[in-house]
Amino acid sequence: MAQIIDGKRISAEIRAEIKEQTEAFKAKRGYAPGLAVIIVGEDPASQVYVRNKKRACDEVGFYSESYELPAETTQDELLSLIDRLNADENIHGIICQLPLPRHLDETAVLLKIKPEKDVDAFHPYNVGKIMIGDYNFLPCTPAGVMALIKRSGIEVAGKNCVVIGRSNIVGKPMAMLLLHANGTVTICHSKTRDIKKICAEADILVAGVGRANFVTADMVKEGAVIIDVGINRLDSGKLCGDVDFCEVEPKASYITPVPGGVGPMTITMLMQNTLTAAKIHGK
Ligand code: GUN
Repeated sequence: MAQIIDGKRISAEIRAEIKEQTEAFKAKRGYAPGLAVIIVGEDPASQVYVRNKKRACDEVGFYSESYELPAETTQDELLSLIDRLNADENIHGIICQLPLPRHLDETAVLLKIKPEKDVDAFHPYNVGKIMIGDYNFLPCTPAGVMALIKRSGIEVAGKNCVVIGRSNIVGKPMAMLLLHANGTVTICHSKTRDIKKICAEADILVAGVGRANFVTADMVKEGAVIIDVGINRLDSGKLCGDVDFCEVEPKASYITPVPGGVGPMTITMLMQNTLTAAKIHGK
């Protein structure tokens, strides 16, 4: 029987710490950390995330602004909004919810956000900082995973860590953070040969492939730590991770559930990055 890593509880703990630090920040500086969230178009999942981000800001005592722009927004309109927010002293963090509608150039948008306000850590400058291990902002999802691992008392140093998926948002930065924690890291992807065998050698397995129930019991070593970053919606409407929880749980030592594992942590890490941005660059 695995120990279930309770992301809701750990996230609430960290948010309470951020709230306390925010109160001290406001008392000292006389203003609140400020986050601007931009969403373009009507993707329902993105709308839920944006609403949750606003709610989290209220909960920890941040100032926040939400920009819900129509799907027809032009590149110039979006870039000039970012320009304005870059110059706004009340705003310390800016995020533009991805994915963007197809006519918009995602790279140009990410490049436009000032690196010191890039609380998603998606700007190539911040990506590079993560690569060399000298960073202020951690990408939110991998940072959430690391916080879950650390707060569960799991040691990473010297462990075989396998990350499934090589996305810029999850897989690549995840591998880098595990490496910084002295793990021995392998990244698997769609072209990996014998993925089952590689996964079965993992002491810590992080799944971020976006395929429901991709990780089955035969891919898991007895006693492994299993972190499920996937959020897949089944035809039935049920949410399900990348790991077949029922099959894998009895073999694991620790496992994150979906929902209630990594999910609740990502917005909390965004709050952490926004507070950091305000501490470093606030006037
Ligand atoms: N879309 C999915 N995850 C994220 C995220 O962490 N940040 C932004 N901006 N968009 C996303």
